[in-house]
Amino acid sequence: MTERTQVGIVGAGPAGLLLSQLLALRGIDSVVVEIRSRAYCEARQRAGLLESGSVDLLRAAGVGKRLDREGLEHGGIYLQFSGERRHIDFRDLAGGRTVTIYAQTEIVKDLIEARTAAGAALEFEVSGTEIDGIDTRRPVLRYTAADGTRHEVACDAIAGCDGFHGISRPAMPARALTVHERAYPYAWLGILAGVPPSTDELIYCRHDTGFALHSMRTPQVSRLYLQVDAGENIAAWPDDRIWAELQRRFALPGWELKEGPILEKSITPMRSFVAAPMRHGRLFLAGDAAHIVPPTGAKGLNLALADVAVLADALTALVRDGRDGPADAYSATCLDRVWRATHFSWWMTSMLHVPPSGDPMEAQLQLSQLRYLTTSRAAATTLAENYTGYLWPRWSS
Ligand code: FAD
Ligand code: PHB
Repeated sequence: MTERTQVGIVGAGPAGLLLSQLLALRGIDSVVVEIRSRAYCEARQRAGLLESGSVDLLRAAGVGKRLDREGLEHGGIYLQFSGERRHIDFRDLAGGRTVTIYAQTEIVKDLIEARTAAGAALEFEVSGTEIDGIDTRRPVLRYTAADGTRHEVACDAIAGCDGFHGISRPAMPARALTVHERAYPYAWLGILAGVPPSTDELIYCRHDTGFALHSMRTPQVSRLYLQVDAGENIAAWPDDRIWAELQRRFALPGWELKEGPILEKSITPMRSFVAAPMRHGRLFLAGDAAHIVPPTGAKGLNLALADVAVLADALTALVRDGRDGPADAYSATCLDRVWRATHFSWWMTSMLHVPPSGDPMEAQLQLSQLRYLTTSRAAATTLAENYTGYLWPRWSS
């Protein structure tokens, strides 16, 4: 039997959930399908840093209460290199703008709770997701629900919010897509540690043995990352080795890195990837389904949320008001911002990571760039305006 909705949404990550929420606020109904369980989606450790535009958007979507209560507002970051730690002051350099620490897990929990409370069609643990008819005005979303029943949903449009490994991007004709991609010869080992952060703001550290980042989740929980070789096995990193390497890279006279129990650890490969256009017919891609950045610039989650702000407006015009213009502009509007963030993330990554070749010329170029950033107001302003969010899209609340 064919069911009916206005927008079929593939994936209940931050992009898919927020889209469903924003559409509901405009009176547009959607069906969200997700292959994982609710518990898995709510526990998956990923990003944690929100641009102020993302915070405003989540508030406007009605999921800002806990974020306002528990989010940690930061007015800058530290850059550490050559045995020194220097502050970059965003409030001063970027017109008072700040960033906020609030974990992706918490955003996902807040959005699932809001959607569930509104009685939304949100299906976890589906299988066999398929998209069909994207060249027509009535595309179809098919999936098998957790109870084994097969569903076919006729939609006005489909949003592919199913991440990098999803089925939406491959559902577009290969000839219609141009893909740009870069793999990096290193990865990030990330830990969640049950210890209060040893710093008030994030520390991005370039050390001769590799990059390290000190971030946080709450006043009791720290999040730390280490550059490791691409393809590194987590089994090669017992907890003692992780702390020893973190201590070595962050070492600074008069400052102490506090240690605690490691609650979770994993290794993430690093890649830049952009697929264009982000729309074919009635299928629209948003977030990681269309683009991936290395995490050094903290852009992945923010890009996904900004895409959705634009997409919610575009789909509202298309399916509610019968206007094609915003949907036609969707891809170009997003790609401008996506390429800015792609460049920024590549630049931060290249400046702070030590290539496996250990090229001494590269090291000197990185150090010169870091000294320039921490002595020139013009250079620091470039970092601050990109980090806090450049080219935030206009969207209607
Ligand atoms: P996702 O969060 O990937 O959500 C996509 C959803 O679609 C998933 O729930 C998936 O299960 C579901 N799905 C997939 N296939 C199907 C299907 N066939 N049918 C139905 N559902 C499907 N960014 C940062 O800024 N900082 C970080 O530290 C950071 N760490 C990361 C670590 C990892 C391991 C990964 C993968 C990403 C990380 N990112 C980080 C990036 C950031 O988390 C992502 O940019 C963000 O999750 C994008 O949200 P999304 O909703 O587009 O995609
Ligand atoms: C995080 O807190 O997980 C985080 C913060 C900043 C980054 C990357 C990850 O650049």
